[in-house]
Amino acid sequence: MDRPCLGFEPHNCGLPGINPYAVRTTKTAKLQLCQPGAGPLFRSEQTRLGRRQFLGHARHGYSPRQSIFRASGGTTGQSGGDGLLDPACAVERVSLSPYRPLFETIWGAHAFDIRWPADVEQICSRGGPPSPGDPFPVHLSGPDRERATLTYDQIGLAIRAFESSPEVNAFTSKYDAVRAGTAKFTALERRGNVLFRGKARCNECHRDSGESPLFTDFTADNLGVPRNSAQPFYAEDQPDAAGYRVNPRGARYVDDGVGAFLASPTNPNGKWATLADSYRGKFQASSLRNVDKRPHPDFVKAYMHNGYFKSLKEVVHFYNTRDVLRRCAPNDPGEKVTCWPAPEQPANVNTTQMGHLGLTNAEEDAIVAFLGTLSDGYEAAAP
Ligand code: HEC
Repeated sequence: MDRPCLGFEPHNCGLPGINPYAVRTTKTAKLQLCQPGAGPLFRSEQTRLGRRQFLGHARHGYSPRQSIFRASGGTTGQSGGDGLLDPACAVERVSLSPYRPLFETIWGAHAFDIRWPADVEQICSRGGPPSPGDPFPVHLSGPDRERATLTYDQIGLAIRAFESSPEVNAFTSKYDAVRAGTAKFTALERRGNVLFRGKARCNECHRDSGESPLFTDFTADNLGVPRNSAQPFYAEDQPDAAGYRVNPRGARYVDDGVGAFLASPTNPNGKWATLADSYRGKFQASSLRNVDKRPHPDFVKAYMHNGYFKSLKEVVHFYNTRDVLRRCAPNDPGEKVTCWPAPEQPANVNTTQMGHLGLTNAEEDAIVAFLGTLSDGYEAAAP
């Protein structure tokens, strides 16, 4: 598995977190994933010091396994993280799919050369996590298990490549048109763009340099976002039909983001575990492309890892005033306007680049207007 990259993306091997423009400081770490002899996914080493990128972090999937997890919308499965009992189940399902031949063209004719047990379908249709005594309930021979694991990772890489492709990343926003010289910002949008790059410091993390900026540098921060107590997850502490408790901590649960991933057994690199505390509460800087895109104008979106904010105005107001307005209890009448509740995770909150930006209300609005230019599908009005 020395050359897994297949030229998906020459700069970064098609893997998350390796954007060539992802440089916030001169010390930004780059994970070198395509070195000969190293599996691309789980044996990566970082080469420089400083802010590190953990393969796309908790939010965006730190491994192909996480990609498959998201692609299949799964929540519970522990071995595969994809809601299926066993990673081999995902491989078996792809082997029955119409795109199997295409997959074999890319990854080789042996991708699905696996002898499946007769009861594979029956096992894979069961829900819940596998029992601890039988973590891989699809019983395969040693070589078949090895093949299934490899193919599983390749499925993840294929999904990752798709997610990086023009089909998903259209780059057809007004912002792109302005860069190409075929559209012009309104005065308000232009003002927002200037603030985004200057006084408001947004592009220090949501980077807008390079050929087709992604508005993220792929590093992680704790912004001090308050807890969103409306999340149903807090109430999911009772065992389901299979005896599985989704959230044993119930209302006491705190999402530690990258820190939780680094502290967990799914962390692929033992050396990273020592960094867990310094990443507690940190999440990957989101791309801001399409951040304002919605199916219809009154559709309410939810922002940040826990969906605490319901509008871009709230988000920008938070960056601007988090450390200026008074602290209040959740559901205070002034919440989100004249006061802010405590951070969900108080450790590692970034207080240097945000929290007291000194923006006026009109400047906040200008930034919101600028964010609206990042939605794909812009068609310049006919002259
Ligand atoms: C210190 C780095 C940093 C700076 C500076 C920063 N951001 Fe962020 N931004 C982040 C991180 C990290 C997240 C994800 C946090 C989370 O999910 O808890 C994020 C998330 C967002 C989101 C939510 C996206 C989504 O899909 O949920 C928006 C909108 C946003 N930022 C806009 C801005 C704007 C506008 C500015 C400037 C006023 C700004 N950011 C400055 C790091 C930063």
